[in-house]
Amino acid sequence: APPLRLHATVSDTYSETIELADLDWDNLGFGLQPTDYMYMMKCSEGGRFANGELRRFGNIELSPSAGVLNYGQGLFEGLKAYRKQDGNILLFRPEENALRMKMGAERMCMPSPTVEQFVEAVKTTVLANKRWIPPPGKGSLYVRPLLMGSGAVLGLAPAPEFTFLIYVSPVGNYFKEGVAPINLVVENELHRATPGGTGGVKTIGNYAAVLKAQSAAKAKGYSDVLYLDCVHKRYLEEVSSCNIFVVKGKVISTPAIKGTILPGITRKSIIDVARSQGFQVEERLVSVNELLDADEVFCTGTAVVVSPVGSITYNDKRVSYGDNGVGPVSQQLYSVLTRMQMGLIEDKMNWTVEL
Ligand code: COI
Repeated sequence: APPLRLHATVSDTYSETIELADLDWDNLGFGLQPTDYMYMMKCSEGGRFANGELRRFGNIELSPSAGVLNYGQGLFEGLKAYRKQDGNILLFRPEENALRMKMGAERMCMPSPTVEQFVEAVKTTVLANKRWIPPPGKGSLYVRPLLMGSGAVLGLAPAPEFTFLIYVSPVGNYFKEGVAPINLVVENELHRATPGGTGGVKTIGNYAAVLKAQSAAKAKGYSDVLYLDCVHKRYLEEVSSCNIFVVKGKVISTPAIKGTILPGITRKSIIDVARSQGFQVEERLVSVNELLDADEVFCTGTAVVVSPVGSITYNDKRVSYGDNGVGPVSQQLYSVLTRMQMGLIEDKMNWTVEL
């Protein structure tokens, strides 16, 4: 591992030639591969985040009564860095993650780093772990920022100290299916989010809450669960770890953001990409019945990118899409988005940030 540099800046690490870590780059899945450094920055009561620094990647110390451990005062983010053929690194829309963390922090009664602090910290962490960024075409470096109430509390209240942390891990495909279509099951009983709740922010509790339905679905051979709204039990919401889109001819529909749906950055990007490719995109209530006569269904997320859906089972009825292959619309949108993210086509949207 390269030597630890405190307060490394982007220009500090930029020109260093760091060789590739010793990993089986052809077989990356979506699991934690420890890397060299993580980033930490604290903020105490009423203060601001300051003095962020790189540290060796490793365990952190927390009070047993830390707000995050006892009352779930925590948020996370996810974004990816890609290595280009020319050796430069591309981040995809990191300011969007910074802004989403700010919104979520407001909902969870936490202070948040400024957008500039967030983006600088991401750049610093990615560059410090450069040797872990997969070679072009082999995957990406997944960047996981966390924001948590790290101070001790006993009564229910916001924590007196907050920690912003970033760690990274090289990743390949999220689902074990790889790039093959996934099979979803509509969840009829459990719900992911409620009106007025926290479904629209990236709080850690939203993800623990879906584990039960997800495990049950996986035990039956499904890849994941598709949630319905909890009021009418009729409108699509999202999958445990990604947003959902339904394709019918040249019209692509996706559930509108209304507080119970995670405002995905890939979701938002795919909406713009699809419009630029001549599709009509509708953000609205999408009824579960529309799954019956859709041409294609796909999921979007930072981790899952654009994942085609091969089948959806609802009340024991199974609907299939794409004849066991990837549908043409999913393929087209996946291709345009990922080529932009990897720097293989011109980024007319100005979404990528080059390091
Ligand atoms: C992501 O797509 O980055 C997420 O945050 C989803 C997570 C469950 C892997």
